[in-house]
Amino acid sequence: MDRNLALEFVRITEAAALSSAKWMGRGDEKSADQAAVDAMRKAFDSVRIDGTVVIGEGERDEAPMLFIGEKVGLKTEDSPAVDIALDPLEGTTICATGGVGAISVIAAAQHGGFLHAPDTYMDKIATGPMAKGLIDIDLSPRENVHRVAEGNRKPVGDVTVVILDRPRHKDLIAEVRKTGARIHLIGDGDVSAAVATAWAESGIDLLIGIGGAPEGVISAAAMRCLGGDFQGRLKFRNENEKERAKKMGIMDLDKKFAMEDLAKGHVIFCATGITDGPLLKGVKLLAGGRAQTQSIVMRSQTGTIRTVDAYHNFSLKKALS
Ligand code: FBP
Repeated sequence: MDRNLALEFVRITEAAALSSAKWMGRGDEKSADQAAVDAMRKAFDSVRIDGTVVIGEGERDEAPMLFIGEKVGLKTEDSPAVDIALDPLEGTTICATGGVGAISVIAAAQHGGFLHAPDTYMDKIATGPMAKGLIDIDLSPRENVHRVAEGNRKPVGDVTVVILDRPRHKDLIAEVRKTGARIHLIGDGDVSAAVATAWAESGIDLLIGIGGAPEGVISAAAMRCLGGDFQGRLKFRNENEKERAKKMGIMDLDKKFAMEDLAKGHVIFCATGITDGPLLKGVKLLAGGRAQTQSIVMRSQTGTIRTVDAYHNFSLKKALS
């Protein structure tokens, strides 16, 4: 995939982050999400790709924009065919409440690179490069914590595990606590949390637990670029979800998905912070109609990780649009 696409995608996540950040802390999840979706959809129009959304805002009948199967980008004769996994606002509640770690995110792969995951749950485990190959979703949380401690060369008591704060994780939390590891419970946003395990400065070593399946595919794309590790297994809530998965081509409903099963080939991952988080600073609205954003953009092919600090001038942008 053309490496310049990576920087084109930053413009798109910046646009979505800037728009949704205007809704930060206003308690209005719907408007925050809509602002991100509208801005992302519009920003795609100027990127020369023959893009297809494979992980998006939902099925065509439930999402008017950025739905699964929607064509995006400025298609020309030579524009590359690219599959897109996106979440214009990952952490809707976080943004609406001014919490920690809302991001806008896009991952891209060559055609066929992403698992077409239904909008169900996924059991996930993620860790950074030092413990790559040591984790296994089929092992107990205790065993995984010990393996990550070994890989990350620290005592178990210094390991930090991120878990979504949900009633379904009661037993998991108890079991991890018994190991002596520290737990960072998060209200939302397990993409940021997965990526943070591979981000040395975050201090986070391991993510375990059940979250959204689409977010799992996006996280796997990020971990491919960062040299980390990720595994997932779909968790269905009902028969309807199983049927949807089968229709999307998933026949083995109990399959353990390795990172490369979820995101294969050359992958680009790009995210912009909306609110401050372990990974990225959030959007800062500055005096004089200016704003500051921070993004990361990375490619699996080269392993280059860029952080992009940008200053935006809305008065000039308005004049151009
Ligand atoms: P949204 O941005 O769609 O609100 O998702 C936030 C999130 O916390 C994800 O990061 C996570 O994978 C999923 O929701 C968990 O789902 P649930 O809130 O149903 O436990």
